[in-house]
Amino acid sequence: MDDVSQKPHDQLGQWLAPDMERVNALIRERMASEHAPRIPEVTAHLVEAGGKRLRPMLVLAAARMCGYDGPFHVHLAATVEFIHTATLLHDDVVDESAQRRGRPTANLLWDNKSSVLVGDYLFARSFQLMVEPARMDVLDVLCNASATIAEGEVLQLTAAQDLSTTEGIYLQVVRGKTAALFAAAAEVGGMIADASPDQVAGLRDYGDALGIAFQIVDDLLDYGGVADTIGKNVGDDFRERKLTLPVIKAVAKADAEERAFWDRTIAQGDQQDGDLERAQGIMARHGAMEAARADALAWADRAKTALDPLPPHDLRDMLTALADFVVARIR
Ligand code: IPE
Ligand code: IPE
Ligand code: MG
Ligand code: MG
Repeated sequence: MDDVSQKPHDQLGQWLAPDMERVNALIRERMASEHAPRIPEVTAHLVEAGGKRLRPMLVLAAARMCGYDGPFHVHLAATVEFIHTATLLHDDVVDESAQRRGRPTANLLWDNKSSVLVGDYLFARSFQLMVEPARMDVLDVLCNASATIAEGEVLQLTAAQDLSTTEGIYLQVVRGKTAALFAAAAEVGGMIADASPDQVAGLRDYGDALGIAFQIVDDLLDYGGVADTIGKNVGDDFRERKLTLPVIKAVAKADAEERAFWDRTIAQGDQQDGDLERAQGIMARHGAMEAARADALAWADRAKTALDPLPPHDLRDMLTALADFVVARIR
């Protein structure tokens, strides 16, 4: 076995391959638009660049592990990928990002207007998909997640540049903007399979904890990653003056000189060449990256424990391995 096939999300992809093919076909079918050619241009650019497809795999894995053999897990998997893609289009406008999935962002290739409007279109498409299973309980979960994601992004906006942002607020932001969709994905997979309430709750907790671990690591990669590997530019969060976990930890330990540095670069936004490297140096001095990684590991452990009520299954083992992997990942 080569390295690639040992990664848990590749293993999940292999196990779920027939389902994933149907999901990808449905995504391609539903991202089309006969009336506005800009839509397929933008969506094809993003969708064909790939993406890890983690959220749809959570839906499919949860449903299959709980014994589902109907058709609607495919619709729900496509739904969460559409919600995810819509939020990425909007997020790259808000963050003024230039690279996504190893390609120039849609806001760079086209413009902000196209990204916002095509994002809206994908959101609307996700609504169409999510009603098809005709399950009110599932709709409730996905609609709540959509609102919570938007709340998380708005909370992040108001916490940016604010050096008094606490780890508690950071947790609220990442729970909203990222973990809400992971949690909903796993939860609706269990629901469509009519899993027991404790199993559905376990799946939801798994997605929540996995999503938090995932976003902490994403925030670490924004300082310590390699653009070619993560498919995004390093340093976006610093430039956007976001109070991510490693920064919050470093600010808490800052001496007077470092405090002045954070105040200039993050609070006032006066950034010069070499400041990103200096920020990385300060965080290293205080062990802020290691401390944030330890938090991510604790969330990954919590994700694994949450799967206790689920039946023994290959897919369950892969979800357990996935929790370890999101902390070890480099993209
Ligand atoms: C990116 O998510 C947004 C975050 C929550 C950090 P992914 O890293 O899952 O994005 P793709 O779909 O694989 O590109
Ligand atoms: C995640 O936040 C975005 C959403 C979940 C909408 P980030 O802003 O950190 O994601 P990236 O780094 O741009 O992928
Ligand atoms: Mg972003
Ligand atoms: Mg990021």
